[in-house]
Amino acid sequence: MTKPVLYFIACAAGPTQHVDDGLRQALARGWDTCLVLTPSAARWWEPRAGELEKLTGHPVRSQYKLPTESDALPKATAMLVAPMSCTTLNKWGAGISDTLAIGLPSEAVHMGVPVTAMPYFNQAQGAQPAVARSVAALREQGVVVLDGPDGYEAHPPKQGNPRAYPWHLALDAVEASAAPAA
Ligand SMILES: Cc1cc2nc3c(=O)[nH]c(=O)nc-3n(C[C@H](O)[C@H](O)[C@H](O)COP(=O)(O)O)c2cc1C
Repeated sequence: MTKPVLYFIACAAGPTQHVDDGLRQALARGWDTCLVLTPSAARWWEPRAGELEKLTGHPVRSQYKLPTESDALPKATAMLVAPMSCTTLNKWGAGISDTLAIGLPSEAVHMGVPVTAMPYFNQAQGAQPAVARSVAALREQGVVVLDGPDGYEAHPPKQGNPRAYPWHLALDAVEASAAPAA
């Protein structure tokens, strides 16, 4: 039986330094896991991108393909944007999809693919009025946004602990959203 496919989409936010931890958890849960990074996050992993490709068995995507290129990844069963940076949240909420990392989930959620997003940013970033508006805009479209006690709550500035990012809560929510209706 073929495995369900998870697009695991990570932004340039603290926990992406440890995205291999999140990938291992997704793989252990039986997902065929494809990693998509924002261009900024891809810079963080540039010297070690091969490790992530070996882990997932897929190319790591971070740029839109050329019109002449065919799709590099299998069709997604579900998508997870984690960690979602403040920048990606606000661009997505405003309908701007200038990165593949936003383009994929922003369309997929309107094509019946379950999309979950869990942020990671500090309270000073989260205090910008655009943030609450963007979360509301994503929820209005059907994205499951885990920005509270069931997911990630913004930390005080300079007090983040990216190692402790709760990947398991994001994956629990993905599984709940992707489960076939009873
Ligand atoms: C070392 C470093 C850590 C960062 N951590 C975060 C973070 O945890 N959350 C966040 O929203 N932005 C963080 N930023 C800022 C984002 O990387 C920046 O806003 C970037 O434009 C996000 O782009 P992206 O969403 O396309 O990845 C960090 C930047 C640097 C250089």
